[in-house]
Amino acid sequence: MSPYAHITGWGTAIPERVLTNAELAKMVDTSDEWIVSRTGIRERRIASEEQTSASLAAEAALAALQVAGLKPADVDLIIVSTSSPEHTFPATACLVQDRIGANNAGAFDLSAACSGFIFGLHLASQSIRTGDIRNAIVIGTETLSRLVDWKDRNTCILFGDGAGAFVLQAAEEPAGILTGVMRSDGSGADLLSLPAGGSRHPISQKVLDAGLHYIQMNGREVFRFAARVMNQATEEVIQKAGLKLDDIQWIIPHQANLRIIEAAARGLKYPMERCVINLDRYGNTSTASIPLATVEAIQDGRLKAGDQVVFVGFGAGLTWGAVLVKWSGPFATRRQKIHPAYVRFLARLRSVLLRVLRRLDTAIWGRVSHIDE
Ligand code: ACO
Repeated sequence: MSPYAHITGWGTAIPERVLTNAELAKMVDTSDEWIVSRTGIRERRIASEEQTSASLAAEAALAALQVAGLKPADVDLIIVSTSSPEHTFPATACLVQDRIGANNAGAFDLSAACSGFIFGLHLASQSIRTGDIRNAIVIGTETLSRLVDWKDRNTCILFGDGAGAFVLQAAEEPAGILTGVMRSDGSGADLLSLPAGGSRHPISQKVLDAGLHYIQMNGREVFRFAARVMNQATEEVIQKAGLKLDDIQWIIPHQANLRIIEAAARGLKYPMERCVINLDRYGNTSTASIPLATVEAIQDGRLKAGDQVVFVGFGAGLTWGAVLVKWSGPFATRRQKIHPAYVRFLARLRSVLLRVLRRLDTAIWGRVSHIDE
């Protein structure tokens, strides 16, 4: 029988700096009243200068490994979903792999905007279900504060920074990620984008003058799209799992806008009290929003082992999707203690040694093979 992918660990990294609506009202022509009534957001977190998408992701990943009781060397696969990667390449996932010392893991980035965490869970779960791997980490991490135009009131009020990670582990018991759906519609690519920095619009003075290095959004159209697909994806994933809406204890939606979530809940006839919401305190953290909300629901005792949960989201691309999870939690056996600070130190040491060895290797053998040519 093929194994199931259980979610056995979780962690978050939340920057300390809080940016309130009142502060934003001093930066652009807006007000706390407008932002709360149109979005539900009251404040968001902003990464410090030292914090990056990789550093937040590594912090969340180590916290998740600690809950799962796994060592970094046990990890076979790291998927980092992000719209604010450190570079076009190398992948932020590789930087995370190095920072946590996961020396047996393949690592890659996944670009599906706010749907990325859902896509990542689905893909990692499929890899576990085929028996190809046993342990994976899926991370959603964002420092979108570095990509918004702080003079554009249409976008700067929405986004926040943070990271969340889940550890997925193989087990025979039928639970964990039961099924998922992933959808895309590239005809809406222009509705939400960051046009510059890729090969289409390489950075140039012209591009900077046009502001193409900032997030551009048609808010009304994204809103209409989101309200439609949230229900569609939720219903589809429940049907695919052979369940009914009544069987679902929690819906944990992408935290973009309270009105989108309310519209979706109304459309589904699902009680708002069973939708996990924390966007009032974090804003839209894009692909990090679902794990951030989930960890909060675990910590305050709402989400328990045995609960059936739908994670559902939408984002740029356009993309949307959902996964259905029977929540289990950490395995009781085979757990190991890890200390994040100690792991970080060893990983750093290992990384430095590998760089020195690579230089030595080039200095000795590079010269010899060069002469041979
Ligand atoms: N403060 C005050 N007024 C504002 C602000 C602001 N921050 N922003 C826009 N306005 C004005 C507009 O200029 C407009 O004025 P006008 O009528 O004179 O032209 C008016 O308010 C109404 O604007 P709308 O765009 O119709 O406002 P709406 O109710 O649609 O709310 C919002 C805007 C909050 C952006 C909403 O459309 C929304 O949430 N859309 C979805 C966005 C989203 O979720 N994006 C992320 C997707 S996930 C990802 O991939 C990253």
